[in-house]
Amino acid sequence: MTSLPASDIQLPLFLHARREPLTEKSAWIALDEHYRNRARHFRLERLFAIDGKRGESMAVEGVGIYLDYSKNLATAETMKLLMQLARQCSLQERIDAMFRGDRINHTEGRPVLHTALRKPAGTRLVVDGQDVVAQVQEVLGRMAHFADQVRSGQWLGYTGRPIRHVVNIGIGGSDLGPMMAYEALRHYGKRDIGMHFLSDVDGAALQETVRALPAEQTLFIVCSKTFTTLETITNAHAARDWLVAQLGDERAVSRHFAGVTTNIREAERFGIDPENTFGFWDWVGGRYSMASAIGLSTMIAVGPENFRQLLRGMHDMDEHFRTAAPEKNLPVILGMLAIWYANFFDAATQAVLPYSQYLKRMPAYLQQLAMESNGKHITVNGEAVNYRTSPVYWGDNGINGQHSFYQMLHQGTQLVPCDFIGFCKPLEQSGDQHELLMANMFAQSEALAFGKSAAQVRDEGTAEALVPHRVFDGNRPSNSMLLDKLTPYSLGTLVALYEHSVFTQGAIWNIDSFDQWGVELGKALAKRTASQLLDHSQPLRHDSSTNALIRRFRNYNRNGGLQARKAA
Ligand code: F6P
Repeated sequence: MTSLPASDIQLPLFLHARREPLTEKSAWIALDEHYRNRARHFRLERLFAIDGKRGESMAVEGVGIYLDYSKNLATAETMKLLMQLARQCSLQERIDAMFRGDRINHTEGRPVLHTALRKPAGTRLVVDGQDVVAQVQEVLGRMAHFADQVRSGQWLGYTGRPIRHVVNIGIGGSDLGPMMAYEALRHYGKRDIGMHFLSDVDGAALQETVRALPAEQTLFIVCSKTFTTLETITNAHAARDWLVAQLGDERAVSRHFAGVTTNIREAERFGIDPENTFGFWDWVGGRYSMASAIGLSTMIAVGPENFRQLLRGMHDMDEHFRTAAPEKNLPVILGMLAIWYANFFDAATQAVLPYSQYLKRMPAYLQQLAMESNGKHITVNGEAVNYRTSPVYWGDNGINGQHSFYQMLHQGTQLVPCDFIGFCKPLEQSGDQHELLMANMFAQSEALAFGKSAAQVRDEGTAEALVPHRVFDGNRPSNSMLLDKLTPYSLGTLVALYEHSVFTQGAIWNIDSFDQWGVELGKALAKRTASQLLDHSQPLRHDSSTNALIRRFRNYNRNGGLQARKAA
């Protein structure tokens, strides 16, 4: 990762102009008063009682997503103030700047153009004299050709046999997006090609992945934006060693390895044939890269046409975000409600609860998207914030969550805003399974919002001593997102919805949502420590805790250090 000297950091004009601290903006002050005088006393039960149409009036539909936000601790007045805040924070100018290709990732001096990855062929976007859409389409074409060859069995391994297993080697954005998309679109996947994802540098991950794989029919795709990420490069080397050992010839590598990176030269140095390397650009952030060549495994799994549908869904949501009025704009509504809870209700977390087995990896994907983007405490102007930024995004497949952590959502002491995601039509069904699944989603948001009073509990004949235990206070907020059916297109809309909700939040908090300096220190320390674990003669100059941990590890691995291995 390269950084610019402070003097070279170019802030877009509207960022310079926005020196007024967030908490001094009139809309923020109004929201604060609104919260203290009214909103903290809101009762959802009452809000619904006084407005019989609330369930319809606080719902919007866009690009196939019906977003019901009526079960939030918010009124029309709240929404009006939130949208005022969005305007006072120049949200629209920031959106326009992103889509235009301004260098809004200012700490890295880069444009932020994942939206260009899904612009339709034939459109243009010129940045620094280059038509980036043409570049994107060129790579998409090469990916489609490669994917078709692998899918059709024309791409032959070194011994002349077709590929039947694909292992995506990558971590963070080079793993979570492709893995989430693969799981989400399994229904559309090519069943005779097994897809595997290797991210953890724990040797067990590689061994458990390759254990049953036929090397002759296995393709590794090394995905790394930088091609320097230690975990990925270590795994890639280990995978290459395994392949060469299995096939007995170094020359096998070029038929069994593809690369996806912005660092083509480094991929070549590793031994990947440039013909099998697919590039992207530094204006695509890792966590925003699943629509780039990083999606090669997705494309192999579902085919180029379905991949294009995914891009189409993303693009349609991009256009909705760019053009819809804030009051009707799904990502803006979602993002501003996140601000409302984080900054006024002091909510520390945000749960994401898909009622779809296919979306089980969505929360993990969103964790990186939201927290690596907005888990920061310094504004674009270099000042420390005096407000909460990214909540902890977390969650799981909703129905499984009901039997584990929902207890806390219903009766715990913390306010946890929840996003429910479900589909009207199932992709797979036997009997009444889908009705049962969706009944649970609707029931959970209802139970969270309206709870169950002591009087109701008593009426059920509950013993007095148990009454307090069986009361549900309710008043716990949620959004419900209902889509027609899980398709490549609708997945695209959903992913872009969250990307832009995260953007909206970062714009209000006035932070650079596209850098990730917070991951650097741990990486640097791990490098130094790794050499101390390998070479036991190196002196330890850490704190007493870290020194003791390293000594204990060394004691258990007396024969395992580099010196010992060298001697052997
Ligand atoms: O360390 C964090 C990070 O840089 C993420 O932002 C990124 O998605 C991941 O590592 C992987 O990076 P790369 O694709 O360059 O290997």
